[in-house]
Order: sequence, then C-alpha cells, then structure tokens
Amino acid sequence: MLPLLLLIHIALCIAAPECDLSKISINGGNYTVSDGGNVGSTVEYSCPPGMYPHPSFSRDCLYTGHWSNEKVKSQCRVVQCPRVEMFENGGFFPPKPRYFVGDVLHFECYGGFKMFGPENRTCQANGKWSGEDTKCDDQESDCPNPGIPIGASKVGSSYKIEHKVKYECHQGLSMFGSKERVCMENKRWSGAEPSCRNWYTFDTAEEVAETFASSLSETIESSDKDKVEGETVRKIGVKEGGLMNIFIIMDASKSVGPKNFQTAKEISEVFIDKIASFDFTPRYAVISYASFAKPISLLSDDDSADADAIIDKIKAFKYTAHQDKQGTNTRAALNETHNMLSLENTRDPKKFLETRNVILLMTDGKHNMGGDPTVEIKRIREILNIRKDNNREDYLDVYVFGLGKDISEDEINDIASKKDPERHVFRMESVDSMKKAFDQMLDETEVLQMCGLSKERLEDHEGLEEVFPWIAKITITRPGSEEKCKGSIVSKSFVLTAAHCFHLDELLHTINVRVGDKVFKVKNLYRHTDYNPLGKTDKGVKKSYDYDMALIELDKALEFSSKIRPICLPCTTGASWALKQRGKSVTCNDHEKTLLSEELVKAMFVAEETDKALERKDVIIKRGSKRLACIEDTKKVDDFKDVPEITDVVSNTFLCTGGIEPQVDPQTCKGDSGGPVIVPYKQRFVQVGIISWGTIISCKGPKRNSGPVPALSRDFHADVFKMLPWLKETLKEDLTFID
Ligand SMILES: *[C@@H]1O[C@H](CO)[C@@H](O)[C@H](O)[C@H]1NC(C)=O
Ligand SMILES: *[C@@H]1O[C@H](CO)[C@@H](O)[C@H](O)[C@H]1NC(C)=O
Ligand SMILES: *[C@@H]1O[C@H](CO)[C@@H](O)[C@H](O)[C@H]1NC(C)=O
Repeated sequence: MLPLLLLIHIALCIAAPECDLSKISINGGNYTVSDGGNVGSTVEYSCPPGMYPHPSFSRDCLYTGHWSNEKVKSQCRVVQCPRVEMFENGGFFPPKPRYFVGDVLHFECYGGFKMFGPENRTCQANGKWSGEDTKCDDQESDCPNPGIPIGASKVGSSYKIEHKVKYECHQGLSMFGSKERVCMENKRWSGAEPSCRNWYTFDTAEEVAETFASSLSETIESSDKDKVEGETVRKIGVKEGGLMNIFIIMDASKSVGPKNFQTAKEISEVFIDKIASFDFTPRYAVISYASFAKPISLLSDDDSADADAIIDKIKAFKYTAHQDKQGTNTRAALNETHNMLSLENTRDPKKFLETRNVILLMTDGKHNMGGDPTVEIKRIREILNIRKDNNREDYLDVYVFGLGKDISEDEINDIASKKDPERHVFRMESVDSMKKAFDQMLDETEVLQMCGLSKERLEDHEGLEEVFPWIAKITITRPGSEEKCKGSIVSKSFVLTAAHCFHLDELLHTINVRVGDKVFKVKNLYRHTDYNPLGKTDKGVKKSYDYDMALIELDKALEFSSKIRPICLPCTTGASWALKQRGKSVTCNDHEKTLLSEELVKAMFVAEETDKALERKDVIIKRGSKRLACIEDTKKVDDFKDVPEITDVVSNTFLCTGGIEPQVDPQTCKGDSGGPVIVPYKQRFVQVGIISWGTIISCKGPKRNSGPVPALSRDFHADVFKMLPWLKETLKEDLTFID
C-alpha cells in the first residue's frame, strides 16, 4: 500500500488522469465513489440481501487512469451455497449443480451408521449452510468420523490413532479451520473442523456473538465449579489465583479510516468491560499498528490489570498517531506482542509459564509489509513452550477478526488458533457488524445472572424493558381503590419494595407484580421487622417511615432474559463484581465508600411518566453537611413544624434527594414509592435506596409538576446499607453477601 501511495503522488504531480465514471455502474445494485473518480478513489458496491456484487465488492482508480478489473462489468448476482462434493456413509437429497438461498439439503445415513448433526440444512442469505456438518458414523474406530464440510473433499478414511485426514475446498472456495487433522492419543482430532466458503461470505453478528462468546467463556469461566463439564468441552481452568494476559491488536492502516478505527476502539472497550464483569482479572496490552506497531498500553505497565485505566488509554489514543505511515504490517504488531511476552519471561519465568494468553487481532486486510505474520505466531508459541506433544495449547488463544471486504481468508485463517470444537477466525462485513456482535454478547445466558446490567448505552435495545430490566411494577387492588408502587428485582424469587405500599393486614391475592411482560402473584410478603408506622406517635410523628422496606416473594421464579434481570444490592458478591472489587478482603464498607463517600452523590430513579413510559430521573443524594440542609428544609414544612425532634422524622436510616441545590432534582411522585434509588457505576447499576416519602407532594398522582419545584421539596429513601442484617437474613438462600 505504501509504495503505491508514493506513485500516486508522483502521478498527480505530472498530470492527474481520471477514471471513467461511466464504467462503474452495477446492474441491480448501488455504488458509492470516494474522491470523484480521481486516481486513488474507490468505488464500493452494494446489492440487495441474498445477492452479492460480481466480480468484487470494490474497485480502485489506478494511476493508469483505469479502474481495477475495468473490463468486467459489475452486476449483482444471486448468493449460492457450496455444493456437496463428498458425503461419507450416507446420501443427500436433492443433488443439484447449484444451491440458492432457502434451498434445503436432506441427509440420510446407510444402515449401521448413526447420524451426528442435523438431518436437514438450509442455504442462508450469507452463502452458508445452517447448522454443523452432518456425519454418519459406525462408532467402530478410535476417533469419530471427522466429517467432510460441504464444498470439500477428503483424503484418508482410516480414523485410527495417528492416522491423518486431509481436506481441500472445491475451486473458488476458501477454507477456515485445519487442512489436515490427526487422530490423537486421546481419541480426538487435532486442530479445528474445516469449512469452505465463498469469497463473498461473511459471518453474521449473531454467529460471531454465539461462537466467540462460547469459546471465550470456556477460557474464562472456569472458576465456576458448578458448571457441568461436558465430554467434548475444552475446559481451560484458569486456576484459583491463575493468570491471563490479553493482547488487543487493532489495525490502523489507511484503508481502515478514522471512523472504523473509532468503532474498533469502542469494540475493545466493550470487550474489556465484558471481561471485567466476570469474576476475573486479566492483564491487558493494547497495540495499534499500521506500518509500525504502537503500543497503547504495555503488559508491563503498573495499571495493566485496571480495566478502567486501559479503557481510558484506548479512548485517548488517536488514529492520526500513525500519520502517513499507513501500511499494514501485521507482523510488527505480533512482534511487539512477542517482545512483551519475552520481558515477562525474564522477570518471572515460573509465573510466565503458568499464565494463559489471549490475542485478539482485528484487521481489515492483508499484510503488505513486514513479511509473513505467522512467523511471529511460531515465535510466540516457542516462548510459551507450546509444542504439539506437551499439552500446552491451552496457554495461547489467537482470535482473528477479518473486517471489511478486501481480505485474505488464508492469511487470517493461518494466524488464528485451531482448536476443537471452537472457532477462532471470523470474517465480518464491517466494523459495525463486529460491534453489534460484541454488544450482543451481553445476552449470553451466563451473563444474565449478572446484576445491574442494562442495555441503556446500546442503540439497538428493543425497548425500555431492556433499559430498565430490573424494574417491577406492583399493583394492589382493594375494594374501590387501586394503589401502585414500584419495586426492583433482586433475585429470581424476590422483589424489593417499600413496606408502606401495603396495609399491615394486606391480603396477598390483591397484589400483582409485573416484570417485563409477565404478571406474577405473591407467595409471601416480608416487611422489615423494625417497620412500625405508629411507633413514634408519642414523639409527635403521625406516621413513621423508618425501615420502610419489604420483600415480595413471587409465586414462581423469574426466568432472566435481556428484559428481566436483577439489580445489584450492595454488599453482595454480585455488587463486588459490578464495582470491580475482587478478592476475599473486600468488605461491605468498601462498597459504601465506593458508592456513597462524596457529599453529593450522582444517583437516579426510574419514573413512569405516562402509562408504561419509563424514564430515568437523575438526582443527587445529599450526604454529610449537605444532608443537614435536607433536615433544615423538612423542619420548615407545615406537617412537621410541631415535631419536637426533627430527627425522629428524618432518622439516619434515610437517604435524601430533592431541593434546588446544586441542581433542581426531579421530585418523586406517588406511584414511584418502593422503586430503587440507584447509583450508576461505570455501566452497572447498584441500588442504594428505596423511594419512601417526600416533604411536599406537588404531583398529581403520577404526574410530575411541570412548573418550578418548590424549594423545600425533599425526598427520602430507605438506606439499603442501614438495613443489611434484615436483607441478609431474608435473602440468604438467594444471594451471597459479604461481611
Ligand atoms: C439503492 O439505494 C437506494 C437508496 O439508498 C435504495 O432505495 C435502493 O433500494 C437501493 N437499490 C438496490 C438495488 O440496492
Ligand atoms: C427434514 O426434511 C424432511 C423433508 O422435508 C422432513 O420430513 C423432516 O421432518 C425434516 N426433519 C427435521 C428434523 O426437521
Ligand atoms: C521485533 O522487535 C525487536 C525489538 O523492538 C526489533 O529489534 C526487531 O527488529 C523486530 N523484528 C521485526 C521483524 O520487526
């Protein structure tokens, strides 16, 4: 790419030829031209779904004044799926020379052979057959039948230990996975299952989210001892106190462009954030490369385990750091990785060999300088002491994401790891579809258990339920009246809310709890044992809201989804992960310090303005000296003028929001009672209070006052930290609390 650029400049100085814009149209599709047909400009083609641009996705205006491939007129062609070249121990139907989107292939096995994989496979819009490869096996050999991907032929049909099979894709198709596999001592095949694909086939965001997340969580989730260990599942086991290095490598060459580089940075941030939400602390290195490699963050940096610090460094890094040195030197980036590993090795060789390594390479093209990048992969394997015969494959996972249209499948496949039954190489249409895949990984089932997640910052959420998935709506239907309250999901069976929502003799069948689009009945209602609304009448307090907390036990356990998730309660292990505080020494005190140590704490609650429309309301919790102002204001309100000790009304079990300093806080209204007061922490949500009562009710039912808020308006919320013993006791079966 670089020498070409130089030539372009020289050519421009002499005379600037232009390419003929009349020669670039495409039948049945659209195109865009950058730089109006001048030398160096690019045409990009697009076709309707199920079609692809022939002969290529793009053309460049060459310095000769001709478009690349100019003689071939562009047209949109119909996507085809590869045809079966070879099928073993069975038959398929219908045999056809071509298969189009929607066609179904049906497989059958001969007598004595058992079918593994799907009976039917459908040709999909991206030119891939649905599902895995179908295999017919008599289960008589050492290794199972390794199968033949559609579009490939196989040499070798003995599946005994040490025997080999070799694959080749039909002409015009390229291969992902291993060309050659050996039946190993452990009766499994070496390498990764191959597949054959057309040059225009991309992996969809859904496929990548699923495949990558499952491979990655194999690597990371090992600390979960309850997980069932499947026979075929590669279990890595980052041992207790085990370690991992993660290298994120981003291509910043010219063809990537500033916008895509920005998206790649965002992908890295999403990735780091996602990893940080597992109970697991790897160390990171981040490298950006074009003609040279530029480390954004070194493995040896003091803060290489600090996810937030790494994210800040990525944010601060500029695409322009590579200036005009914008070739694609993938080898240099991997050499830099090797250098960092090498430094670790000299520092502490024993620990080095116990540490697992994940490389995540995002590249938009083929290397055009620096030489063969796989040389560096070999050196990295050497320094990690990974050999074919020593069972150390688990110490290195190289994931390669080929992004964009002009890419070498062979090259990205050669660099990526090959492990059964995982996939390490992906080809995606654009950086945007990769971003989508990473965002979607939030939906993976193991993540659903995690507390305090929301799709708030993702543009593609499906609705408000995904933005506020922990909100429960409570309705109490009494003869002649209906009362509404809010609550928060804290576990599969419990919703946390305010005790004052219910009469002391409330009948359980009058209570309905709506979460997501489901309505639940109530099995039990537990009020805080110290809640006693008439307990302070002798002190002039007509109704005391102290310990205004209740837990509703639902009649059926919730099934978590992207629309129904728990919020984090402080002093639980879930909150420790959300607050990125790990280790056995983390205490409840640490949580309180992190969440509530300032005098002014940014917090939020969720209000239902009109029917169903939930809205985030940002408020500020006043602490310390600022809280005194809350109490002073409360004294001035008519209702409390005659109470001798105002702290009997506002005891220290309340958090305070409201007022007009330093900002005008939105007021809470009637239907908000019982809802969570939340402190957002990074991208997670931790509940610190329960909406209880306010000094001035200027709302009309759930309708907020649109005019100026009365200056004396203050809202008080049950402080979750002050009620932990009761929560611990009541939720001990459902949540794990820390000391
Ligand atoms: C071409 O682009 C226009 C406008 O974006 C769109 O409406 C049309 O469907 C596209 N045509 C094809 C064949 O993709
Ligand atoms: C596969 O297709 C055949 C023929 O269309 C159909 O009878 C059969 O039910 C399908 N099998 C599955 C598992 O969907
Ligand atoms: C790899 O990095 C080392 C240390 O910076 C350097 O001396 C060497 O030339 C690099 N090798 C390649 C092939 O870039």
